[in-house]
Amino acid sequence: MTTVKPKSVVQEYRDVRYYSEKLVQTLEVEDFVVQAAAHVSPTKWHLAHTTWFFEKFILEVYVPDYKYFNEEFLFLFNSYYETVGEFHPQQKRGLITRPTVRETMAYREHVDQEMKELLSEKEGDATITSLVEIGLQHEQQHQELILMDIKYNFSFNPLYPSLKEKVDPLLKEAPPLSFEEYEEGVVEVGHDGGGFAFDNEGPRHKTYLHSYKLANRPVTNGEFIQFIESGGYEEAAYWLSDGWSKVKEEQWKHPEYWQEKDGQWFYFTLSGLKEIDLDAPVVHVSFYEADAYARWAGKRLPTEQEWEHAMENLLLDGHFMEDESFQPHAGYTGQSMEKAYGDVWEWTQSPYVPYPGNKPLEGALGEYNAKFMANQIVLKGGSCVTPRSHIRSTYRNFFHPHMRWQFSGFRLAEDV
Ligand SMILES: [Fe+2]
Repeated sequence: MTTVKPKSVVQEYRDVRYYSEKLVQTLEVEDFVVQAAAHVSPTKWHLAHTTWFFEKFILEVYVPDYKYFNEEFLFLFNSYYETVGEFHPQQKRGLITRPTVRETMAYREHVDQEMKELLSEKEGDATITSLVEIGLQHEQQHQELILMDIKYNFSFNPLYPSLKEKVDPLLKEAPPLSFEEYEEGVVEVGHDGGGFAFDNEGPRHKTYLHSYKLANRPVTNGEFIQFIESGGYEEAAYWLSDGWSKVKEEQWKHPEYWQEKDGQWFYFTLSGLKEIDLDAPVVHVSFYEADAYARWAGKRLPTEQEWEHAMENLLLDGHFMEDESFQPHAGYTGQSMEKAYGDVWEWTQSPYVPYPGNKPLEGALGEYNAKFMANQIVLKGGSCVTPRSHIRSTYRNFFHPHMRWQFSGFRLAEDV
């Protein structure tokens, strides 16, 4: 049996940094600066901010007399870390035409060169290695954000630009919906501390689950169309009060990026406007829409603990960013539990709160996750724009319940 040698931290660094640039190779220079709404960021900002992260949390601390590429970038590319100084407002990132894209790439090169030198000098330094690991996981999160944000920005263009022509998978029909049963009992969830995890994933702890059933696959576009066509968006009884307010306020009639033309449904994808694939998982729905669908179907959303307990021993395999089709697809495998990982982030019904005994990282990096633990909902499993090596069963993604630009879908659960 051959064993694959784990990558060195230098190789990991090079590969992750390279992939961010690979993702945007087909963009034109004009595409890098647009910010269509306050909650998205220009591609150029993401490329600079991920670079700032290595500069601020590693180079500035561990390289004596570190020479900044440009000291003003410390203000410009800090996202939200109050502890390390002031920052430029998020909603104004699209107004920043300088530094140019070329200067931003030169900034990346400067920091990469400094990081390369530091890593060769301090090879094996455990503190630096763990900070680099956080920096790379952070950059992977931003790779997903880059794709989410390009899609959102492109969606306002009537020409429906394409980032990349879709790689078509072996298309299959969605298997019939069925439910797997899990017995009641005390189970353990959360990260046990072996290997990388964000601070919000631990500690591993006991929790009690009542008996429950979980669907064998996420809800499909075809099924969601039935909800739409049976008046799902017009009947307050299916909706949480805050969700119903959003339906009226935002005039929601279908998931984000959908449109109907002559009785046919289309959606905007990173490969342009496409006919909707009825067998693929529905994507770009808010928590409110997922919850309303579940009520309409006589079911409910799973808790994050139910989801994790059911999925933790499954193979971490699926349709991820590296497949480069950037859209959930109908490639089913025939396994009893389909698409646990990849394709769509799955909304749970669980509020994003700390686990019992949870401790945020010390210092500025404690701001990474902990300060967002109010009014957000946990999503599990990763999506078709999540890097493959980024996801784990314990991973807790989180968004506000009305957000729809992330690649979010859901699967149903029910009580026994
Ligand atoms: Fe960030």
